[in-house]
Amino acid sequence: MRGLIPDSFIDELLARVDIVDVIERRVPLKKAGREWTACCPFHDERTPSFYVSPAKQFFHCFGCGAHGSAIKFLMDYERLEFPDAVEELAQSVGLAVPREGGRDERPREDKTDLYALLDASASWYQEQLPKNAETQAYCRKRGLDAKTIADFRLGWAPAGYDGVIKALGNSPRRMELLTEAGMVSSGERGSKYDRFRERLMFPILDRRGRVIAFGGRIIQKSGEGSPALDSGAQDARKSDGPKYLNSPETPLFHKGRELFALWQVKQANANLRRIVVVEGYMDVIALHQAGLPIAVATLGTATTPEHTELLFRAAPDVVFCFDGDRAGRAAAWKALDAALPRLRDGRQAYFLFLPEGEDPDTLVRQEGKGGFEQRLKNATPLSDYFFDELARDVDIASLDGRARLAERARPLIARLPDGAFRDLMAQELERRSGASARLQSDPAAHRAVQRPVAAQRSLVRSAIGLLLAQPGMADQVEKPYRFLRLDRPGVGLLAELLDLARSRPGINPAMLVEHFAERPEYPALQKLMAAAVVGEPEAQRTEFMDALLRMDEQAVALRRETLHAKMRSGPLDDAEKAELRELLAARARPAAVPD
Ligand code: UTP
Ligand code: MN
Repeated sequence: MRGLIPDSFIDELLARVDIVDVIERRVPLKKAGREWTACCPFHDERTPSFYVSPAKQFFHCFGCGAHGSAIKFLMDYERLEFPDAVEELAQSVGLAVPREGGRDERPREDKTDLYALLDASASWYQEQLPKNAETQAYCRKRGLDAKTIADFRLGWAPAGYDGVIKALGNSPRRMELLTEAGMVSSGERGSKYDRFRERLMFPILDRRGRVIAFGGRIIQKSGEGSPALDSGAQDARKSDGPKYLNSPETPLFHKGRELFALWQVKQANANLRRIVVVEGYMDVIALHQAGLPIAVATLGTATTPEHTELLFRAAPDVVFCFDGDRAGRAAAWKALDAALPRLRDGRQAYFLFLPEGEDPDTLVRQEGKGGFEQRLKNATPLSDYFFDELARDVDIASLDGRARLAERARPLIARLPDGAFRDLMAQELERRSGASARLQSDPAAHRAVQRPVAAQRSLVRSAIGLLLAQPGMADQVEKPYRFLRLDRPGVGLLAELLDLARSRPGINPAMLVEHFAERPEYPALQKLMAAAVVGEPEAQRTEFMDALLRMDEQAVALRRETLHAKMRSGPLDDAEKAELRELLAARARPAAVPD
């Protein structure tokens, strides 16, 4: 986590940069009177309605309404977070970003040397490639053209144990950096040797295009083993380690947070509608070369929530591409799980399962760009995949099966952010599982299930419903109620219910609701209670605590956004600054997603 950037620095930075420069470097501008103009990079247009004012240091598009400072432009154009945009801008004018407060009080280590060293390593591997006939033959065999090799900075790590070390580690400081960068391994007696040997090298870039790590594919020497060079695991001879070897986790590289080729994708597309996630380096590269520069890959790891956030920030539609086999399906479900909490309205996830034995690389070579695009078009929407997968081994024709489906789906749907998509999923669950999923002999309960969508409509409602089902859970909620910060209808009522339940240990749901007999909320509470009758107590408990946590997170996120927005247009006062600091610390705290 980073500390906060002082306002005074933002002021200084914006005084120092010229927005015309910043934009001109990315979008060619034409002089128009006192302003500069261009076709807007944020929407499609033929005649320019995008204006940059040097006097105001502001850009504005009369077509789509995009506007802001140089920082805002970088955030939008390069899809950077605020601190990264500030950093990028600061670097361009030779300023160092100071930090204040924040969670990480350690002095920030200067990573410049590390970046420089990794960049030099990439260049060195690139230089080695033409010197090795085998690798050149391999690249030809895989159909890689010169432009692709150059664009992705592919290289060759030669045989021997000290190629990189000799080329780059010619001082103790350099050796230290090579080690820190994960470029060398240590032997038993502390001897150092190149981590990557005899491998085709794929540099991994960060979101600013800097080399932060490598993946290396084993290349078989000719005359050894099977001639089927590209046929999977068999060419990973034991002595040479895995088929693909990645850099270890380093101060610059956390594989759960990086996507291979995200930089190239952003470079190739100013306005991306759809991004495709595939499994392998070669898949990404083949798709780019085939004219689909919209593919990225996770780095030999399952899709993490951080990955999904990065993906959705890059494009509103994300297509997850997996093998059709068992392992592929398991990986797809993991991706779905990571995507659920990020599926705000406007974002859509799709799943594309490939035929047995094929991967995007082989497919796009056989079917071309058009063929693969057709597959993308036909990808399964998340909602279909979700329900099909959950219903895979249940008998939907039976009451029991439908109840089971509902049981499985409900906690997952509860993890979706509040919004229209979540309502639709709840409706769809209702349609597929039917009222019988909540089968009750009590006709009153039956009537209540007519409106289960209402029960799903918001976090607040679902929390109230769950609390009504098990008032005893109130004891587990700490006071003061953090969720009260969320300004939504019903939060007050929820607090009131909690207080009541806490003050009367052993109170049952009906008694609790009866307290409200004279109140306007009474009918709604009754309905909510009826809707929550079915369900595992344990699952309900989890769902309840989860709902409270998410309300709190939403409140924090909203407030943080408000303050950030304000900070971009003018300085915050001391109280606001303190508040923002606390909110940022709160974001770092929750047990949300471990690495
Ligand atoms: P695959 O084994 O499916 O390889 O691994 P691939 O991408 O089709 O590669 P080619 O076509 O044989 O060259 C898919 C991805 O899983 C990760 C890599 O990111 C790889 O691209 N992986 C695979 C590893 O990290 N280590 C391995 O040993 C194997
Ligand atoms: Mn492959």
